[in-house]
Amino acid sequence: MDNQESKWVRAFTNIAFIKYWGKANEELMIPMNNSLSLTLDAFYTDTQVHFLTELKQDELYIDGELQDEKSLDKAKVILDLVREQAGIQDHARIESINHVPTAAGLASSASGLAALAGAASLAAGLDLSQTELSRLARRGSGSASRSIYGGFAEWQQGSNDLDSYALPIDDANWDIGMIFIIVDDKRKDISSTEGMRRVVESSPYYEGWVQSTAEDLKEIKVAIAERNFIRIGEIAESSAMKMHALNLSAQPPFNYWSPDSIIAMRKVEELRDSGYPVYFTMDAGPNVKLICKQSQMDEIYELLLKDYRSDQLVRAHPGPGMQVLAGEDLP
Ligand code: PMV
Repeated sequence: MDNQESKWVRAFTNIAFIKYWGKANEELMIPMNNSLSLTLDAFYTDTQVHFLTELKQDELYIDGELQDEKSLDKAKVILDLVREQAGIQDHARIESINHVPTAAGLASSASGLAALAGAASLAAGLDLSQTELSRLARRGSGSASRSIYGGFAEWQQGSNDLDSYALPIDDANWDIGMIFIIVDDKRKDISSTEGMRRVVESSPYYEGWVQSTAEDLKEIKVAIAERNFIRIGEIAESSAMKMHALNLSAQPPFNYWSPDSIIAMRKVEELRDSGYPVYFTMDAGPNVKLICKQSQMDEIYELLLKDYRSDQLVRAHPGPGMQVLAGEDLP
């Protein structure tokens, strides 16, 4: 088919302050609770898609390297939905460039699948609204639904394919930032899908999670509106700990922490005890993310350098929403 529409699309990763941890419908990717995240500028993915008649199967190139079948699973869900909507039969060639600092071990599916939703729909000639893009990205990876937007975004769980999508909450253009503490760059051995399945099926605390998350969400939205940094940090840290407590209470139990994750969390607490308003959050992996005021970020970074190498620390600011690249931004 004609590929005049193929454009490079950039999407930034996001880190949840109120975690998504459980699916009500795995196929449609409907979550058990609303979640809320901050899109960050430090990690992003650039993607271009071509639908080509001569291809025998879909192909995914990341940083120039052809990936195996398995790595295409999530991407295929998005490609199939786009093909169906646009009435296209051709297979696709996806080219992605991941801008993730080396050794970060943070390659997030959020930026990758959001960028793919944008690039694939453009290549197919579909003119999707942000809500439609969020719904499409969601089908590849739930957290990707939030990366359509910059700043704080909330993924409203909804109950079906049409009403489950993210909305922007606040541009976060104020004094908030994050330092990633990379303690380990190994891939997680329990996928988020498997982890979520296990807690929903077996944690006796799951109901409590759903209830308390609704309360946390209400409160953090007020705190964001008031720019109450301390309250935001407290709620975010507590949401992360509750998510990880679900994992410990599942059958069989599991966790994503390494000994160095615990050391990093202690470090954040020490900084807090010494007067810095800093909080941590963690996802489905061992790395720790420190939430801080942007105005204190360099000072805190210097303090962390006493315990970490500079390649273990990444400073991030609130990032923008998904964008079509032009001019000098083109890869
Ligand atoms: O969308 P997934 O499958 O990458 O799951 C994301 C899960 C967490 O990162 C742990 C929480 C979240 O809301 O992003």
